[in-house]
Amino acid sequence: MTKKLAVMGSGYGSNFEAIVNYFKGKDIEITCLSDVKNAFILERAKKLKIKCEFLPFEDNFEYFSNNKFDLIALAGYMRILDERTLKKMEKVINIHPSILPFFKGKDAIKKVFLAGVKLSGITIHRVEKEVDKGKIIAQYPVFIENSMSLDEFEQAVHNAEHKFYPAVIEKLLESKVFDSQDLMTPSEDFCGESGGYSECKS
Ligand code: GRF
Repeated sequence: MTKKLAVMGSGYGSNFEAIVNYFKGKDIEITCLSDVKNAFILERAKKLKIKCEFLPFEDNFEYFSNNKFDLIALAGYMRILDERTLKKMEKVINIHPSILPFFKGKDAIKKVFLAGVKLSGITIHRVEKEVDKGKIIAQYPVFIENSMSLDEFEQAVHNAEHKFYPAVIEKLLESKVFDSQDLMTPSEDFCGESGGYSECKS
């Protein structure tokens, strides 16, 4: 049966685009939702011919009372969802650009960089009412080399997000139990057209 995935974002939408590309040709119906009317994520959705909608924050409860998804993935969604709405949304996950519980909140990439840490990464977690505090589903490391600029580090974090978020979403849609490491080790599952692992044997 076709799985229904909603991706919610407020801004740029690079994760959304990575998700759309990953699921090309697969039996997944993607809907893009944004609380910001002129957000670039909605432009991307139109260009990629993905169903999209401007959904004001205040309308979330009603919308998710009437529209059901197998999974809702937040990707740069800048509002805090209340408990009542989260209950209606059911399965909601988020991606955060640090290894939680370290560097919660806004501007995490810059905060990590300025703190001078040498190892950071990304976290995919369930969304619960407290920001960046839901159950951790998966984490992936990003090393900060001495020679790296903030821009380069930021790019490395986004590359990791684009590589792992879609793969984690797929596992969750299939209700598969997995460890973070499973997605880091090239295997037949993640090779082929949609996998995008350069390590995969052809
Ligand atoms: C990502 O870094 C994500 O981790 C954070 O917001 C950013 C969204 O980027 N929650 P984009 O809109 O997907 O390009």
